[in-house]
Amino acid sequence: MKRVAILISGGGSNMVALAQSMVGDHKARPVLVLSNDPSAGGLTKARDMGIATAAVDHREYGKDRSAFEAVLQEKLEEAQPDIICLAGFMRILTEGFTAQYEGRMLNIHPSLLPKYKGLHTHARALEAGDKVHGCSVHEVTAALDDGPVLGQAQINVLPDDTPETLAARLLPMEHKLYVEVLRRYAAGDRSLLKISG
Ligand code: GAR
Repeated sequence: MKRVAILISGGGSNMVALAQSMVGDHKARPVLVLSNDPSAGGLTKARDMGIATAAVDHREYGKDRSAFEAVLQEKLEEAQPDIICLAGFMRILTEGFTAQYEGRMLNIHPSLLPKYKGLHTHARALEAGDKVHGCSVHEVTAALDDGPVLGQAQINVLPDDTPETLAARLLPMEHKLYVEVLRRYAAGDRSLLKISG
């Protein structure tokens, strides 16, 4: 059985979808939900699901990313994960940290990569007049929102969409995509998955 650690910063809806999916013949189980924000709503949800949680408050480390990551790494090592899922984890990770976990760390990003790396992806898709928008699950490498794409889900942009309506319509597709990519990844399948809603 593969051990999965999930890193979150907020509400953790992707984390909940992933955790709920890891049952039955799934090749993985959640062993830790870790947040950079002790008040993240997702931590309570994880505890309610009986999953171990930990928090490392990045604010205590100021600009010293390496010091923050050293503690993050300690918490991860205690849980001995085979796979790490970033699920709405909003801290940029250093090259040193990502190198430790290359080949076993996934991220979900709310755009059709390689478009719109970074923040405000929904607003940027609307500003560009895109007719389709979506999300991507990719393997994490040193460069931000880069690394091999394992899956993408696509939705149509409607004429009166706002960043908020677009985000709300995309979120259930994120859950569907991430759950399916993780299921395949845990079983050793890294082929590209495409879905549309
Ligand atoms: C999701 O939309 C995820 O794609 C995004 O944050 C949200 C987290 O929601 N991630 C990023 O923007 C990463 N750069 P959740 O906490 O409900 O899963």
